Amino acid sequence: MPNSKIKKLKILFVTSEVAPLSKVGGLADVCWSLPRELIKLGHDVRIFTPKYGSIEEEKYSIKYYLKGLKVSTSKEDIICNIKQCLIPGNIKVYLLENMEYYEKRANVYGYSDDSRRWYLLSKLVLEFLKAEDWTPDIIHNHDWMTGFASNFLRTEYKKDKKLNKIATLFTIHNIEMQGQFNYWDQKESEKDDGKKNITDLYAKEVIGSNGVKRGIIHSDIVSSVSENYTREIMTPEYGAGLDKLMREERMKLFGVINGLDYNVFNPSTDPDIWVNYDRNSLEKKTKNKLKFQQEFGLDQDPDVPLLGFVGRFTKQKGLSLIKEVLEILIKDLHFQFAIVGGSGEQEYQQYFYELMKKYPHKIGGHLMVSKIIGQQIYAASDIFLYPSLFEPCGLAHLIAMKYGSVPVVHKTGGLADTVLDFDPNTFEGNGFVFEDFNQRSFMIQIVRAIENFKHKNSWKKLQRKLMGLDFSWKNSAIQYIDLYNKAIERHKRWLTKEGLIKARFPEEVSGIHTIDPSR
Ligand code: GLC
Repeated sequence: MPNSKIKKLKILFVTSEVAPLSKVGGLADVCWSLPRELIKLGHDVRIFTPKYGSIEEEKYSIKYYLKGLKVSTSKEDIICNIKQCLIPGNIKVYLLENMEYYEKRANVYGYSDDSRRWYLLSKLVLEFLKAEDWTPDIIHNHDWMTGFASNFLRTEYKKDKKLNKIATLFTIHNIEMQGQFNYWDQKESEKDDGKKNITDLYAKEVIGSNGVKRGIIHSDIVSSVSENYTREIMTPEYGAGLDKLMREERMKLFGVINGLDYNVFNPSTDPDIWVNYDRNSLEKKTKNKLKFQQEFGLDQDPDVPLLGFVGRFTKQKGLSLIKEVLEILIKDLHFQFAIVGGSGEQEYQQYFYELMKKYPHKIGGHLMVSKIIGQQIYAASDIFLYPSLFEPCGLAHLIAMKYGSVPVVHKTGGLADTVLDFDPNTFEGNGFVFEDFNQRSFMIQIVRAIENFKHKNSWKKLQRKLMGLDFSWKNSAIQYIDLYNKAIERHKRWLTKEGLIKARFPEEVSGIHTIDPSR
C-alpha cells in the first residue's frame, strides 16, 4: 500500500526500449518492472520512448496525445508527434513518433544514424516537457542512448526556468556500449571529451559522440546495476576506457542491483511452459523436462541432468567458454544440453548447429532468440550455465533460480553479488561459482554441479531453497527512491537564485555516501 507520508515523486524514464512494447534485452525489462514497483510505492512514474513500427497500436490502444513538436536543424525541421498508451502496471507511456527515424525501422538498434536517432529522442523529451503541464522532479536516463538528455538539460536548456529544476539520474547497464562506434577502435584524437556543446543534429560530431561519457558528466547522480559492477567499472579491466572518469566522479556513483519481476517470471503462472509448478510441486518441473526432451528429440530420461543456456550469442555471455568445454565434457559425461539464443556472432550459431547434428539425442534447442523456448528451458533444465565474461547485473540466472535451475556462474558483476558458491555440507550458497575465466575453472564447476545433481534429496532441497529466494524489485526500488532524492538535493546546489544553473562542472559536493573502489 502506498505510504501517505512519503513525498510523492514525479519520475520520467527515458529509454530506447521497454517491455512489453519493444524488448531487445534486459534494459527493457528494467524499464518496465522498476516503474511498476515505484508506482506501487506511491510515486507518479511515466515512460518516454520511441514509437517503433513494430509496436502494435491496437493491442495497446495507442492514441495521439500531442502533434507537431519541432526540432530545427541545419538541414530541415524535424516534426514529431507524441502518442500515448498504458502498459501493464498502469504505467503511462509517451511514445515519440517520427516516420523517418523510428516508425519505418524494423529494429530498435543497428542503423548508421543511430546516434542521430538517440539525439532526437533525448532532445524531443525536453521539447515535449516544455509543452506539457506535467513536469517531473527527476528524469531517469538509461545507457548511452539517453545520456544526451542529461547533457542537453545542463547546456542548451539550462536557462529554461521549468526544465532546469529537473534533476537527473543516469544508469549504466553496460559500459561497453558508449556510442555508434566500438570504443576500442576509436583513436585518441577521435574521442569525444563529452563537454563540447553539440547543437545541430547533423553536426558531424554527433556520430562519434559518447553518450555514456556525457551521461556521466552531466547527470546529478550516476548508478550502475549492481554494486560489484560499479566497483569493477572503476578499474581499467572493466571500465572500457572510462575507468578514470568513473573514479573522478565516484562521489556521485552508486550501485543498485536489478530485481526480477515475479509477475512476469513465475513458474506457477508462466503461460509459456508446459506444466506450471512451484517449490512444493517439483515433480511437475520434471514433466517440463520430459516434454522438452520429447519436443527437441533428446532421450527422454528424468535422471539425466539437463544443462541449459538462454541468451545472446556474444563474447559477453561467455559463449567462448561454453564452446570450449561442451564437446570435451559431453563425450564422457552423462548429461544433456538445451540451448536457445542468437543475435550475436555468427560463429556460435554455426558451431551449435554442427554440434546438434553430431549429438542429436544429447543437445537440442533453437538457434534464434525465442522468448517461449527460453522460458521452456528455464522450466526444463536442472543446471543453468551463465559463464559471462562480464555481467553488469544479469537477469537469466535470477530467472533460472526462480524456476529451480541451479546456476553455474563466473564470479563477476552482478553474478558475484547474487550467487554464492554452494557447500553441500553446510548448505550455504545457491550455485556453482568459478573465479578465473578459463576452461578448467568452468569445467570443474560443471562437474561439481552434475555430481551434486546425483544426490536427489539434497538437490531437491537446493532447488527449493533457490526458488524461495527473494530477488524481487521491492528493495531495489526503495534504493532508487533514495537515489532520486539524492539527485534532487544535489541538483538544488547547481541552481542560482535566478534559477539558472551556476556552472557546468561545479565542485563535487562531499559527504555523499559512495562506493569504495578498493573494496
Ligand atoms: C544489460 C547488462 C545486463 C543487465 C541488463 C539490465 O543488458 O548486460 O547484465 O542485467 O542490462 O540492467
